[in-house]
Amino acid sequence: MAEVIQAVRGMNDVLPAQAGLWQWFEATVRDWLAHYGYDELRTPLVEPTGLFVRSIGEATDIVEKEMYTFVDALNGESLTLRPEGTAACLRAVLQHQLLYAGPQRLWYQGAMFRHERPQRGRYRQFHQIGVEALGFPGPDVDAEHIAMTARLWRSLGISDVTLELNTLGSAEARVRYRSRLVEYFSRHADALSEDERRRLQHNPLRLLDSKNPALAGLISDAPRLFDDLDEVSLLHFEQLQATLRAVNVSYTINPRLVRGLDYYNATVFEWVTRSLGAQGTVCAGGRYDGLIEQLGGKPAPGCGFAMGVERLLALLEMAQFAAPERAPHAYLIHFGDAAALHVPVVAERMRDAALRVVQHCGGGSIKSQMKRADASGARFAVILADDEIASESVSIKPLRGQGEQTRAALDDAIALIKQG
Ligand code: HAM
Repeated sequence: MAEVIQAVRGMNDVLPAQAGLWQWFEATVRDWLAHYGYDELRTPLVEPTGLFVRSIGEATDIVEKEMYTFVDALNGESLTLRPEGTAACLRAVLQHQLLYAGPQRLWYQGAMFRHERPQRGRYRQFHQIGVEALGFPGPDVDAEHIAMTARLWRSLGISDVTLELNTLGSAEARVRYRSRLVEYFSRHADALSEDERRRLQHNPLRLLDSKNPALAGLISDAPRLFDDLDEVSLLHFEQLQATLRAVNVSYTINPRLVRGLDYYNATVFEWVTRSLGAQGTVCAGGRYDGLIEQLGGKPAPGCGFAMGVERLLALLEMAQFAAPERAPHAYLIHFGDAAALHVPVVAERMRDAALRVVQHCGGGSIKSQMKRADASGARFAVILADDEIASESVSIKPLRGQGEQTRAALDDAIALIKQG
């Protein structure tokens, strides 16, 4: 026998047994987004490589080593499977000039691709649901994003998440801070690995969220961005916190939170859980007021966040959350030539009455069909054989719990099934 081809490492199938949870989650999220006035935007999976280099930043892990990039054989253009959604969203907004109509509240969902080392909660193809608010300068919209995520956790029944918050200040404040940081770590260059020394040159802020235990002491004594912050950013941060307190969202300020993408300024935040081991960030985002201009648009502020769907579903599964039942109401079994002809007619009539109906296909004895009916999870088997055809009726047998098999006219059978 030929060898069975396996999926690419770190890229997962969603099997039918899991799909119900995905569907329920996606429906809940869509409803939640509608309650906050966000509109969906769908963008391609592939974008010009330059879009991500320009936005995420050349010295980031994503751009340096995690992108799936290939050359279009027809025209030699460098293309990349999207590693995140913000850049693509802004590209579409600028290309279609959506901001001319005023500020935009947008959301997107779908697969993202990063060539990371796969482990629990970290995949090479994963799914995000992302939200971006464009054209809003104030902290009110930052607070809206955080409060709306808090509401989502409540409606999903997720309680084991905490909010970490920080401000990165203005671009100028960060330049000042960057040089203080470079000066500090350069004095301790002996303690840095080769990779960390390279990072010190290209992206010193990222040293602050290094997982290297040998750096822990150095990091905790490092200069703090807070001391370089400009007044505008400080006020923005204070107003954000005041709103969070007003809507009862608790948070911890984490001065080491810098995020792995270069486009952020001012507010950054992450929702973190301890239940998922090392990959505990389930949702993350912040403000990126310079990015639209950087991508060729007229200067306009922006902020947003994205959540990792696999990580949130893992939390739901750990809490043994069961998605609402989508099993069929009835499984239709039949015996004899006349019934075989009539069964699709009955199935369609039942579906007209909004029932979920699975029709047995492929023949077999009544007994073997009954087994299939049971395995389908349906609440009733509906049986059609010569007797039923002759008396213009169907037999119904409850498959879950008590109850005898009975015979009834189709309309009565439908009513009975609807009662459950
Ligand atoms: P990010 O922090 O790179 O931000 O990703 C957001 C979330 O996606 C993470 O918190 C995590 O839950 C999930 N995630 C990231 N990488 C993986 C992976 N390899 N496997 C599974 N889940 C993963 C962004 O992507 C920004 N675009 C967020 C944003 C939107 N900021 C402003 N607007």
